[in-house]
Amino acid sequence: MADDSCRLPSIVQELAATVKEPPSRYLLPEQERLGDQQLVGAEMPEPVPCIDLRRLLASDGAEDEATKLRSALQSWGDLLHDYTLNCKRVKDDILRAMAKILELDDDCLINHFGEKGSTYARFNYYPACPRPDLVLGIRPHSDVCALTLLLMDKDVGGLQVLRDETWYSVPPVRDYALLVNVGVSLENKRRKKIPRNPMSDESWRLPTIVQELAATVKEPPSRYLLPEQERLGDQQLVGAEMPEPVPCIDLRQLLASDGAEEEAAKLRSVLQSWGFFLVTNHGIETSLIDAVITASREFFRQPLEQKQEYSNLVEGKQWQLEGYGNDPVKTQDQILDWSDRLHLRVEPEDERNFARWPRHPEPFRDLLHEYTLDCKRVKDGILRAMAKLLELDDDCLINQFGEKGSTYARFNYYPACPRPDLVLGIKAHSDVGVLTLLLMDKHVGGLQVLRDGTWYSVPPVRDYALLVNVGMSMEIMTNGIFRGPVHRVVTNSEKERMSVAMFYAADLEKEIEPIAELLDEKQPLRYKKIKCKDFVYANYEYLSKRERVIESLKI
Ligand code: OGA
Ligand code: NI
Repeated sequence: MADDSCRLPSIVQELAATVKEPPSRYLLPEQERLGDQQLVGAEMPEPVPCIDLRRLLASDGAEDEATKLRSALQSWGDLLHDYTLNCKRVKDDILRAMAKILELDDDCLINHFGEKGSTYARFNYYPACPRPDLVLGIRPHSDVCALTLLLMDKDVGGLQVLRDETWYSVPPVRDYALLVNVGVSLENKRRKKIPRNPMSDESWRLPTIVQELAATVKEPPSRYLLPEQERLGDQQLVGAEMPEPVPCIDLRQLLASDGAEEEAAKLRSVLQSWGFFLVTNHGIETSLIDAVITASREFFRQPLEQKQEYSNLVEGKQWQLEGYGNDPVKTQDQILDWSDRLHLRVEPEDERNFARWPRHPEPFRDLLHEYTLDCKRVKDGILRAMAKLLELDDDCLINQFGEKGSTYARFNYYPACPRPDLVLGIKAHSDVGVLTLLLMDKHVGGLQVLRDGTWYSVPPVRDYALLVNVGMSMEIMTNGIFRGPVHRVVTNSEKERMSVAMFYAADLEKEIEPIAELLDEKQPLRYKKIKCKDFVYANYEYLSKRERVIESLKI
């Protein structure tokens, strides 16, 4: 949409009358889709609290209703009142009663509206929708005004209220009661909330080393906490069990000159379903793998000052892609990850910035060099097999990287976290590169992969297999045939966790675009091209907003 037409909202009533499926602009992100149970909403543990306005205002005997009002305000923030034509009177009466509860002058809250308090009437119309699991009538919000009086449809429910992480459904009201709820501006008065620490300096931009934090705090600071509606229950923390074991590809068999068909067919099926798999028989010595893990553990075990020598902040300030630290902090309200990482560009080999490569433990650099060479071979083998599946020249995918394909090694360290229900080790994302080879902690799980709205947990791998997953650059190159899975890492309240990821990205100066041979009339171009470097940096921008950068490239 080259023009600005996308800014013009449609009339949903017209749309509902003409389309069978809601257009993509109305769909919830995959991880927020509603199952049947969420659609119905939990039943409230008690009926919606009901306040008798006449009794509330009676000069005597108001005690009961006032107590009820107090408890309703403190628990739900919603009230039900007898129906009345005079909303202003009802509103004033309620505000007076609320002022009393707060031990303020009777008219104190009413006076807070100033001379010309505004009242808006909003008539909402919700057309029937063919996909209630994918589309909301109104997304989660609090009203911005002081008080709302709501007259609901007598017959059709749909309103849900969030409390302690559960969405409760508010049943339709048949007895002419009005639903009253407290808006954001009254909430601020009620709680005498001090505006969030304005942090007038720029210190919020400096990511913290989580390992240090974990050693000092009992509760994760607010900047790490998930929004209330996304907190993880026990079940989500454990993750769903995958319906089958993680698909496993035997690399030797896949690359054999004969008899590779079976393995290739398996590869095709897993790439089109999960988008990730384990690779065995990869030819990397188990002793090298053990040594890489041990060396990275030792790196993180060093005192902070030693690690800071390799910091990804230039002069303690300016964030850069390589080094020890964390993702850049783009906004004050960004939700931060409970992990630290060492991020090194290991290829092209002649462009390594050894200033960021740890000198301790002593074998670190040599091990990383060897591991890089071994992984390159594995990666090339997989890319050749994938090219074959797409009926392209064997080296077609490898050539897409350009002259100076970039490989990044990322050593992830996840300290134990006191509140795994409130904090993620790495937020939901898809890897930005073409392909990722991941070496996971043998003992501690935590990786979860999203499929059809369910988070599946990937168990720890004990036999030196590597986890391979497709990245968003591959999604663009294959015009969407192979897609990068959305994944995240949950934290563990007792154990720290380690992983080492090798990210294969194109030459930073090269444009990533769908391969011409994969396009025809039936498969029209689906993604815009983008320079690899811009894609990598844009990814951090989108990640901080918890959005997927690839959505911005879809045609
Ligand atoms: C990553 C990642 C998963 C893990 O580094 O991008 O998804 O298990 N890591 O550490
Ligand atoms: Ni990842």
